[in-house]
Amino acid sequence: MKIIVCENYDEMSKVGADIIAELVAEKPDCILGLATGSTPVGMYKELAAKNKAGEITFKDVTSFNLDEYYPLAPDHDQSYRYFMNHNLFDHIDIDKTRTHVPDGLAEDPALMGKNYDAAITAAGGIDLQVLGLGPNGHIAFNEPEKELYVGTHLTSLTDSTIEANSRFFASKSDVPTKAVTMGIGSIMQARKIIVLASGKGKHYVVEKMQDDRITTEVPATLLKVHPDVTLICDKDAYNG
Ligand code: GLP
Repeated sequence: MKIIVCENYDEMSKVGADIIAELVAEKPDCILGLATGSTPVGMYKELAAKNKAGEITFKDVTSFNLDEYYPLAPDHDQSYRYFMNHNLFDHIDIDKTRTHVPDGLAEDPALMGKNYDAAITAAGGIDLQVLGLGPNGHIAFNEPEKELYVGTHLTSLTDSTIEANSRFFASKSDVPTKAVTMGIGSIMQARKIIVLASGKGKHYVVEKMQDDRITTEVPATLLKVHPDVTLICDKDAYNG
């Protein structure tokens, strides 16, 4: 795993945006795997600025997001579809019909998950996957557990994740207790992965990502077996 330690959040955002911009320039019809959370917001702003300045175009890019709360409608202001439209898609020239987010209202989440993974494969597979880190080491919504799923699936959120994500909702009781999320296999099949981490709250996970062991109890450690992962973190996440 390659590690880039940045001075601060803004530098982390720029480094991440440059990596994506380079890929989009090189392969205009690339497949991006995108993440939500507060961490990638700055990077998405940088990408929108590059697009506005005419440096890159997203018109032939396809995207697949990692996860969505369940059950939650796409037009709910806390849905990850809403987040992506609001923080990125509405500000770039991407064709929204090429943007995919797991269906948070799927009647049959298992079937939806299978179809989601099949759609990624049919599109040619993810060229570059963006990941954030949960403070407990979760990636997407693959929470610390004895056994993890390979493909996209319905999962329950841990109390610590509900607590951490409650800052975006009116109250903790409004946070959905379930989500549909890409599995570890869906993520691992990406050709390249960039992980963004900012702030002292992510130090525990960033440290766990640097020793020579893996554990499903800290899902982000599983990324060590992927051949092309770049962890881009700021000093607070790196040093604690
Ligand atoms: C959510 C998402 C994750 C994200 C995490 C961290 O739980 N499902 O994909 O990485 O939040 O969020 P933040 O970047 O706000 O710390």
